[in-house]
Amino acid sequence: MSGGDILASGISARERPLVEGLKRWVAIPSVSTDPERARDVEASAAFLRDYALGCGMSRAEIWPTAGHPAVFAERIEDPSLPTVLVYGHHDVQPVDPENEWEAAPFEPLERDGMLLGRGTADDKGHILMHMEAIRGILDTRGRLPINVKLIAEGEEEDGSEHFEELVRDHRQQLAADVAVISDTGMLAEDVPGLTVALRGLAYWEVRVETSSTDLHSGVYGGAVLNPIAVLSQLLAGLHDARGRVTVPGFYQGVRDLTSGERAELAQVPFDGGTFLASVGATADGEEGYSTMERRTIRPTLEICGIWGGYQGEGAKTVIPSRAGAKLSSRLVPDQEADQVTAAVGAHLRAAAPAGARVEFELIHDGRWVLTPSRHPAVDAAARVVSEVWQAPCVFIREGGSIPPVVTIADELGVPCVLFGVGLPDDRIHAPNERVVLHQLFKGMQVVGRLWDAYAKLGRQGLSEPLG
Ligand code: BES
Ligand code: ZN
Repeated sequence: MSGGDILASGISARERPLVEGLKRWVAIPSVSTDPERARDVEASAAFLRDYALGCGMSRAEIWPTAGHPAVFAERIEDPSLPTVLVYGHHDVQPVDPENEWEAAPFEPLERDGMLLGRGTADDKGHILMHMEAIRGILDTRGRLPINVKLIAEGEEEDGSEHFEELVRDHRQQLAADVAVISDTGMLAEDVPGLTVALRGLAYWEVRVETSSTDLHSGVYGGAVLNPIAVLSQLLAGLHDARGRVTVPGFYQGVRDLTSGERAELAQVPFDGGTFLASVGATADGEEGYSTMERRTIRPTLEICGIWGGYQGEGAKTVIPSRAGAKLSSRLVPDQEADQVTAAVGAHLRAAAPAGARVEFELIHDGRWVLTPSRHPAVDAAARVVSEVWQAPCVFIREGGSIPPVVTIADELGVPCVLFGVGLPDDRIHAPNERVVLHQLFKGMQVVGRLWDAYAKLGRQGLSEPLG
């Protein structure tokens, strides 16, 4: 490419549309967990449908669900060619605490080779990386070497409640030889990777009630159960001094890694100290496991939120009648979300003192993922990723969860390749989410080369049994 093609900020004319498109899309606040944003999630779906057509997809449509809409798009060149199904999600996380953002979360700001804004990395940037890669191939060659389908979900951040039904209802239209899931990241800018494992998730709310009304803390205090104290004790008792979860049955089914697998994980270029220091966090967790192991191959039970009593200015001498908390577990092979939910619920009820009423409710859950190892689709992706980054591809076990991957693998019977270009300090779900633009540009190169690699393998070469 000639120097003249490089615009100010080091971004080429070929790359610029992705940035401008992403700015316009991120400006649509598609927060799926906020009912007031339902119209915005619809607008986000309409934006993507039009964008996909603009990039050369031959068909693009909005697929409504009982919750938020998904977007489907495809370009079928020739049914005898392999078909790739790309998965991403167009909904985003809430933005609170909003005052901690350096720029308004839905007014994307381009700075120092990054784009700041909610959804830039998780996951709108990834979807446009795919769409712009397609535009690029069509501009130069006029056709794709394979068939591409895109399914962009509208409620991944809210538990993917309707995704299974959506996939079942459209099984034929979604049929493919391989799925490429782009909603993950790599360990560092110079350490390219593919994700091969994700943890599952179960998310709950627990509420404790100890009286039928709030009580004057002088009139009743000292003589009654206090729901905040009860809840605090329940929560404090969930882990022992060695960082193990105390809930009976919690570890049922957990596969222990062999010493060989643990040695392999220890080889991954990852420094736990640096990882934690970069976010000002302190190491904690299960004794006998490294930071990497604690965040990937071990199950967790975390407290994600807690409330109860007076939260306003000054003092209010009252004992509340209720207190509550949000809890979640990250699950690993072969834990079952239903079994863990039953175990945690039973434990909390049993551990509460008489007179404390405990309600325990599942908000959502999703299974862990292990992608097939040594599948030709994965091998080809690893090769292409190393070529583009000019460094060996690292196989990553990720601590986060993407429940729809299980649905795609099970319902469509396709191998899933998890390729994403996020970085650990992209601050996804937190204030000042951002994406490093050249990661997206490199990702576009990967996509282009990967489609060629899959074309070369052909449908036959991709159809190796999953194992
Ligand atoms: N993109 C993330 C999953 C992820 C996080 C992948 C970190 C790689 C690194 C996804 O959007 C997400 O946030 N998933 C939720 C799932 C939940 C809402 C069911 C998660 O992990 O909390
Ligand atoms: Zn997310």
